[in-house]
Amino acid sequence: MADNVTIEPVIGLIGGSGLYDIDGLEDKEWRRVETPWGEPSDALLFGRLDGVRCVFLPRHGRGHPIPPSELNFRANIDALKRSGVTDIVSLSAVGSLREDLPPGRFVLVDQFIDRSFARQKSFFGRGCVAHVGMAEPVSARMGDVIAAQAAHIGVEMTRGGTYLVMEGPQFSTRAESELYRQWGCSVIGMTNMPEAKLAREAELCYASIAMVTDYDCWHDDHDSVTVDAVVKIMTENAAKAKSLVKAIIPELGKPRGLCPSGAERALDNAIITAPSA
Ligand code: ADE
Repeated sequence: MADNVTIEPVIGLIGGSGLYDIDGLEDKEWRRVETPWGEPSDALLFGRLDGVRCVFLPRHGRGHPIPPSELNFRANIDALKRSGVTDIVSLSAVGSLREDLPPGRFVLVDQFIDRSFARQKSFFGRGCVAHVGMAEPVSARMGDVIAAQAAHIGVEMTRGGTYLVMEGPQFSTRAESELYRQWGCSVIGMTNMPEAKLAREAELCYASIAMVTDYDCWHDDHDSVTVDAVVKIMTENAAKAKSLVKAIIPELGKPRGLCPSGAERALDNAIITAPSA
């Protein structure tokens, strides 16, 4: 790919159902997308905001029927890729592992520690082995746009933080929560991996907005996380998340060159299997 390409971005959003219920979204159409990896979590909602094409995928399906370990991450990412998406914005609920990240805070994650273990994590395998770089797992270019828009509309956002991905579905023990704090992690959730790894293999730019709902179970002054607490804060945050999505899509959708993250060229030097093997 030449360096002087111009990309007309198509924005993919993966998040909770309801996220796509934003004013101004035009030409809306739910479409099922088939993939060789099986079924994505749900049909995808195609639309246009201020002329920018966007595609929404409810991560757990509408009504939240699919638990984290049963998400078909490969089908989800592949369905977005097949739909023409160039840039993925992931929105997800997380627990906080830091005092200064209270419930309600949005965190623009820039690193991950992947402790998930019961998931299909690659599009590659026997016959075609690839090792993409994951040192910088998110797009700082997208991060700049998202942080600027958050500031512009008054959504409190912390830039940078490490997201610990746990398998679930149970929440952590206190010992695990303390361990992840000692590791320097900022937030904990169950969904961003292998999503970010597969986005990189699919040569898609990826940014993650983690929305803090609770202090997990390490904080002496706060009750341990429960589903009720998570849902309550998520409901309170829904309007904020929608305003942010509405603000970022037109900006992320501006024509651009290749992403400095290198995502669009991730496979250039990643495949190790000889073509004839
Ligand atoms: N999602 C929201 N809160 C969480 C927590 N404390 N642990 C894992 N996933 C979460």
